[in-house]
Amino acid sequence: HTRWATHGAPSQTNAHPHVSGNCTNSGSGVVESEVVGVHNGIVENYQELKAKMERHDYRFYSETDTEVLIKLVDYYYKKYKMGPIDALAKTIVRVRGSYALAVMFSDHPGKIFVARKESPMIIGVNDKESFIASDVPAILAHTRSVYYIGNLEMAEISAGDVTFYNLDGDKITKEVTEIEWDAEAAEKGGYEHFMMKEIHEQPKVVLDTLHKYINEEADTRAIDLSATGLTEDMIKQTSSVYIVACGSAWHVGMEAQYVLEELADIPVRVELASEFRYRKNRLQKDSLVIVISQSGETIDTLEAMKTARKRGIPSLAIVNVKGSSIALTANYCLFTNAGPEIAVASTKAYTCQLTVLYLLTVKLGLCNRKLSKENAAALMKQLQKVPAACNEVIKKKKEYEELCNNLAGAESLFMIGRGLDYYTLLEGSLKLKEISYIHSEAYASGELKHGPIALIDRSVPVIAAVTQGHLLHKESSNIKEVRARNARAFVLIKEEYAGQLIQKVPMYLLPDLDDDFMTFPCVIALQWIAYYSACQRGLNVDKPRNLAKVVTVE
Ligand code: M6R
Repeated sequence: HTRWATHGAPSQTNAHPHVSGNCTNSGSGVVESEVVGVHNGIVENYQELKAKMERHDYRFYSETDTEVLIKLVDYYYKKYKMGPIDALAKTIVRVRGSYALAVMFSDHPGKIFVARKESPMIIGVNDKESFIASDVPAILAHTRSVYYIGNLEMAEISAGDVTFYNLDGDKITKEVTEIEWDAEAAEKGGYEHFMMKEIHEQPKVVLDTLHKYINEEADTRAIDLSATGLTEDMIKQTSSVYIVACGSAWHVGMEAQYVLEELADIPVRVELASEFRYRKNRLQKDSLVIVISQSGETIDTLEAMKTARKRGIPSLAIVNVKGSSIALTANYCLFTNAGPEIAVASTKAYTCQLTVLYLLTVKLGLCNRKLSKENAAALMKQLQKVPAACNEVIKKKKEYEELCNNLAGAESLFMIGRGLDYYTLLEGSLKLKEISYIHSEAYASGELKHGPIALIDRSVPVIAAVTQGHLLHKESSNIKEVRARNARAFVLIKEEYAGQLIQKVPMYLLPDLDDDFMTFPCVIALQWIAYYSACQRGLNVDKPRNLAKVVTVE
């Protein structure tokens, strides 16, 4: 068991499974216990429960909340002489927090009993086996038949069979879902890393995502969002948009804010989900909350969406995983067609989320009459060119590998840009940090002189993005400023503008799209920079330290 530690360090003693009896964890792993279990999530009141259990003579060997949970199940099971499901139900009622819990009882061999609150859990079955996991890709090699267990529900699982129960202990019926993704989609397919594979998949998945919502039969290539449940009337009534997300998905939100305001002329506010949840928001009536999430399970994003819903503001989720908590809770859903994303660093989900938001921008602009049909058609034409442009940058990976040779040894760097470029660099900078562990900061170029320029010297390289024509000369001056402080500058530039830069610096040409769409090729260049920087340092590209793909804890 590799664990992302909430309570207690990642050590052998704290590793799952945990047991109801005593465990010295000498390494043999054999202990006398009636209940054994694993858990994903957090038990918030574990200290209070631990104290209670200690009063009942339970002794604890680990620092984890999970051990408390398992011992509590054991306590109810024995004290009330109840069945496993009733003991689980009683435990659930006492425990605050989020959990996906799986336990076995020594006197119920061949069975696993599970319970779920907030944390993700799916159950897969085939003829002779059953599987429990947090998400679908983990079990795709074994089955595509999946049950989604609901909040505060439990199940009794045996080989190839599942029975579901509600909190009252009554049996409930559930339909099995056949997953569209195939097993190959969750394999490396000959690539060295999932991240490398997923970068390569972008032209295809962006196209798939476009085709999902472009009504091919309509001459006008109308955008058809009817499958989401969102009607044109609802779109027309939307007077402002809040976008709420975490990590890379939040960066998509920042880009979307720029594009939505620029092209659809609608006020947008972007919020980090972890902040949005805990502060007073003056949400406007007639607004729409858009949440963005690849996994659909990020707890902060899910809870932020629920907060908005409680205030009567409808939510639209842009999400990649069908059946995920966010997909099931949102009023409306726009699915991205990225397929399973396995690498911790998001790449293809990011460009698919952007694609959907551009489509939504055009739709909103048309419905609100801020965009003429001609302009909308021109934007759609650009969007159709995105997959080919992505492909061009993907083919240039060698250039970016070489760029990374020049970054070797740098422990810190800056990424600078203006307008849309700044938001793209926020994402590029996160990508570099999370997989190469190089400290990187993305700055709006105009802000440099307000403080951070003090850090610039020969040892701190600067990567600049230059794709916005109306800001070209300003950005050119900013590059000059950092070079005057001896920084080595590397410039990612739209091909059309390459001849206009006053500075003589190493340039990496990005294929020409309209400026408003340049974020697509630019972010792929930045993904390569992160990827090769991590490879050159011999790091685990797909599983960076301290990170989890799905963040189900606050
Ligand atoms: O599944 P989500 O899109 O909700 O995940 C949000 C973030 O945890 C995620 O984007 C994270 O920042 C990635 N590791 C970035 O590459």
